[in-house]
Amino acid sequence: MHRVLVCAGDGIGPEVMEATLHVLESLDLDIGYVSEPVGMAGYAARGEAITDDTVAIAKEVDAVLFGAVTTPPASQEGYRSPLLTLRRELDLYANVRPARPLLPWLSRTGPPPTHGTSPSLDVVVVRENTEGLYVRREREVEGGVVAERLVTEAGSERLVRFAARHALERERSLVTCVHKANLLRRSDGLFLDTFRRVMREQAPGMPISDIHVDAAAAAMVSDPASLDVLVTPNLYGDILSDLAAALTGGLGLAPSASYGNGTPLFEPVHGSAPEIAGKGIANPVGCMLSAAMMLEHLDHSVASARLVSAVVSTMKDRVLTPDLGGKASTVGFAERVKASL
Ligand code: NAD
Ligand code: IPM
Ligand code: MN
Repeated sequence: MHRVLVCAGDGIGPEVMEATLHVLESLDLDIGYVSEPVGMAGYAARGEAITDDTVAIAKEVDAVLFGAVTTPPASQEGYRSPLLTLRRELDLYANVRPARPLLPWLSRTGPPPTHGTSPSLDVVVVRENTEGLYVRREREVEGGVVAERLVTEAGSERLVRFAARHALERERSLVTCVHKANLLRRSDGLFLDTFRRVMREQAPGMPISDIHVDAAAAAMVSDPASLDVLVTPNLYGDILSDLAAALTGGLGLAPSASYGNGTPLFEPVHGSAPEIAGKGIANPVGCMLSAAMMLEHLDHSVASARLVSAVVSTMKDRVLTPDLGGKASTVGFAERVKASL
């Protein structure tokens, strides 16, 4: 039996998680779920956004399924981000964020006016998940604040090795390094050099390219077919994965998985969406597809594929939450997915 730690979090986190667990239960797999409160729910229950006990459980289970948490304003003392804590404690250095329209009408990239390439974006962002600006070392200097941005050769190398393996296993056709080495010559220069060296060593036959992060954003909209697997430093991947989600149907649909040396973690790309929380209208698809990525990792590939196709056929039947112009509730959507299973 596999064991999964469920951290629903706060905001719409518990809503999309409830819907997802409902569907997972009906798959009737040999998986035991244990829930721990994190984020504002953790504060309410235990006075801490995440406890050491929760971290210890995360280290022992086979997977973590995470909903979403609200980041409190800077003034909140002693706040420990559950997500950043888990990413660090589990050393989850590769954040995988696939984005493709599940149904053609979800694509928001327009057809290019002249050439006949596919107008839909179909990318996998492989985002570095432990370094960059996320080391969160900010210090006051006269008249301002300096934020350190860390790029290490070892950190870049393990990410690229992961991306190369991922691209080969999934038979992707191009791996592109996203960087800003024209400006950040040394840090992004190191990331790019490491990318070229490791790809040459590990996947010599795999076509590679590189693109400046600003141009990558434009290409996602105007030349989506030119992009496939994107290997990015932390913040660029954060931003581009939201863009990719928006271009392939919306933030509510996008799943992600984080892998590294510890227990892998699966979570939707979106946050706690406070403005719609409590209304029962959040789109649970991102969380459900993250659960599908988890099932695949746990060797339940058939159940994973069944879940994805049940989600797609539910949407095909125009059962949609309001973010996609429909009238379905979060729970109503889950019921239909369950019926479709
Ligand atoms: P957000 O992703 O929560 O929301 C952005 C927009 O997308 C909002 O308009 C929201 O209503 C919409 N949206 C997001 N998910 C949706 C869903 N499932 N269904 C329908 N609409 C959805 O991003 P934000 O507003 O920048 O952040 C809100 C809070 O969440 C912040 O405190 C932020 O730090 C936090 N956050 C947490 C995570 C996480 O837990 N993984 C990720 C991103 C942001
Ligand atoms: C994400 C989120 C997080 C990030 C925030 C909440 C720290 O935006 O998972 O994409 O920037 O990594
Ligand atoms: Mn983000």
